[in-house]
Amino acid sequence: MTKMIVRVPLGERAYDIHIGAGLLEQAGSLLTPLLRRPRVAVVTDEHVLAAQGERLRAGLVAANIEADFISLTPGEATKSFTGLETLTGRLLDLGVERDDVIVAFGGGVIGDLAGFAASILRRGCRFAQIPTTLLAQVDSAVGGKTAINAAQGKNLVGAFHQPDIVIADISALATLPPRELRAGYAEVVKYGLISDAPFFAWLETHGASLLAGDAAARTHAVKISCEAKAAIVGADERERGKRAVLNLGHTFGHAFEAYFGYSDKLLHGEGVALGMALAFEYSTRLGLCPAGDAARVKAHLAASDLPGEIAALSEAPPAAVLAKFMMQDKKVEQGKLTLILADAVGRARIVKDADIADVAAFLKEKTGR
Ligand SMILES: NC(=O)c1ccc[n+]([C@@H]2O[C@H](COP(=O)([O-])OP(=O)(O)OC[C@H]3O[C@@H](n4cnc5c(N)ncnc54)[C@H](O)[C@@H]3O)[C@@H](O)[C@H]2O)c1
Repeated sequence: MTKMIVRVPLGERAYDIHIGAGLLEQAGSLLTPLLRRPRVAVVTDEHVLAAQGERLRAGLVAANIEADFISLTPGEATKSFTGLETLTGRLLDLGVERDDVIVAFGGGVIGDLAGFAASILRRGCRFAQIPTTLLAQVDSAVGGKTAINAAQGKNLVGAFHQPDIVIADISALATLPPRELRAGYAEVVKYGLISDAPFFAWLETHGASLLAGDAAARTHAVKISCEAKAAIVGADERERGKRAVLNLGHTFGHAFEAYFGYSDKLLHGEGVALGMALAFEYSTRLGLCPAGDAARVKAHLAASDLPGEIAALSEAPPAAVLAKFMMQDKKVEQGKLTLILADAVGRARIVKDADIADVAAFLKEKTGR
């Protein structure tokens, strides 16, 4: 199968995203041009190491690269000050130098943590992203946002630090639990909804085969998603404006994630799915978006076994609690809520002064509480 390359256009910090099946076996040759010495530190978690570690190890050995694997506990709790301390300590013990490349090999948790560690270790090391979840391949590994969680909230301590390369091996998704795959698919759908109506229509037709394992469909979807993210990041690296559209579904979604304690009750991608459906419904309520478009969004999410409505959840949170969580969002400025809404499928818009009382009334209608 052909390999695709998407460039993230960031001047002297520009880099390539390599997308295709079987890339772990080629990781060594892809990394070699970046290395000052044939040695890397690979940061991963125990699940990824067990499921895909041998493939990456073989790919590095094939290019005569020595690799030290640091395997961390899987899960969001690792993206913490404690996780950061453990990881930076291990990297320093290994003698990682500023010009070395730290490899983040895993999902968004590993990418965010290892990326942040790379941004501060010895005042900034280079790093490579080898994302192994669909969410990481289409979203978190691209764009340079790195972070850990604080007691006060998710992703509150971090840095913008761009990787030097992203290697998205579609074959790695074969061992991903189906629920994690679907959660990542929500972020794929997001790109269609933001700015690419034909891609959303393509997903309505091909989404089921993509989820079932069709490698060509997966490669195509990852490529289109990365192209969309690369264009937005290239235009607004630090989220001063346009990059905010990538938060479609996130402000509503985060409120539900927070209510469920960022637990397995609702994965991030599932929260985004529900949040996108609600953002479209709310857009319809404001008279911005045709009701038929909101219905299409909800129907496609439901067909993909993702929550497209609150009734799909184990429990409907009280509207007042959700509204409170929404007001704690990073996108609140001077009491006004910034929401990403839509004029239609493929036409997201940034609304800077959403009325929280009206949003709360809408949520009350939806939750019935
Ligand atoms: N930096 C960004 O721009 C950005 C964007 C979106 C999300 N995020 C962050 O990403 C994180 C979520 O990432 P995620 O959804 O990838 O979750 P994750 O990293 O927790 O991975 C999900 C689970 O799948 C396992 N896994 C990963 N790849 C596997 C594979 N190929 N085979 C078998 N098991 C595998 C992991 O061990 C884990 O148990 C959150 O912390 C979120 O804040 C960051």
